[in-house]
Amino acid sequence: MKHLIDPTDLTKEETEEIIDLALDIIDHPENYAEACKGKKLATLFYEPSTRTRLSFTAAMMELGGNVLGFSDAQNSSVSKGETCADTTKVINCFADIIAMRHFEEGAALVSAMNSRIPVINAGDGSHAHPTQTLTDLLTIKREIGRFDNLTIGFCGDLKFGRTVHSLIKALSRYEGVKVVLIAPEQLRLPDYMKKEVCDVNGIPYKEVTTLEEVMPELDVLYMTRVQKERFFDEDEFDRVKDCFILDSEKLSTAKPGMRILHPLPRVNEITVDVDADPRAAYFRQVENGKNVRKALILKLLEWADKKDRETTLVPADAVRNQHVCRNPRCISNMEVNVDSLFRPATDHPGEWRCVYCESKAKN
Ligand code: NCD
Repeated sequence: MKHLIDPTDLTKEETEEIIDLALDIIDHPENYAEACKGKKLATLFYEPSTRTRLSFTAAMMELGGNVLGFSDAQNSSVSKGETCADTTKVINCFADIIAMRHFEEGAALVSAMNSRIPVINAGDGSHAHPTQTLTDLLTIKREIGRFDNLTIGFCGDLKFGRTVHSLIKALSRYEGVKVVLIAPEQLRLPDYMKKEVCDVNGIPYKEVTTLEEVMPELDVLYMTRVQKERFFDEDEFDRVKDCFILDSEKLSTAKPGMRILHPLPRVNEITVDVDADPRAAYFRQVENGKNVRKALILKLLEWADKKDRETTLVPADAVRNQHVCRNPRCISNMEVNVDSLFRPATDHPGEWRCVYCESKAKN
């Protein structure tokens, strides 16, 4: 069974196959109008969403398929205490493919472990968001034309920004990629991303605290929202909420071919005067999101029964119930009947990382 929980569940070739299919769908949407006739997508959204849920819905409708699901966990049996595993087993009786968004890190993985149909992670807490990554890659492909030799600046909430984590993982497989991290001290990229993703893949990165000092060197500027809902402490949020605001003046030193991406929603981090600049690609990015999700649904349904397309959900060297995750929002700490699973850390011999959320074990 092929699932998409983490961007690296797709090989580089499979990722590009999906991007190429999305490009063909954009050119010839009529050829795909009945491609999912008789198929059902279940959208299980435990957390707010506009673009991701509705683009999945629009994608399935445009493929001639049907959609069922919930957009508020309070209206489902979750409010009665049902686990992710049980909900998944139930939905397996009704649908052909699942897209799940959840506030707990690792939820989509637990769902996939309990599913006979493909599961797509539509965002798990602050951990990963691989379909936004496919959206971002398609946008970069259409706007810039390449993934190699890109200098990409990530600005804002790099700590909790799951879209940032997943895009860096996907781009770390390309040659000549340089990452510029623009964030206040409190919102820096997590350690595992710097060590296991950037260092292990030889991706150079630098950390800066102003946009101005790096603007002229960027090919892509990936802006993000400071995510109030992920903070444990409101005062901490108030201190950083207005840390970066991109306006037309700051853009004056950017390359003419540079592109601004943003997963949206925006709060105040990009002023509306920037929208008219041809470099602002974030609304075109939304359209790409629908088309790449059409391609993804088609490919996952096609690969569902292929033996050579198996997703490795639990690494062979993982250990079960020997450590406890230090992340309070990890599904292994939030739900009953979820075994703890840890794999050896690749950046640090002797240390263990949680298979669900990649945090370290409690000592
Ligand atoms: C992002 C998300 O949900 O992670 N939005 C999206 O999916 N387009 C970013 C955010 O919420 O700030």
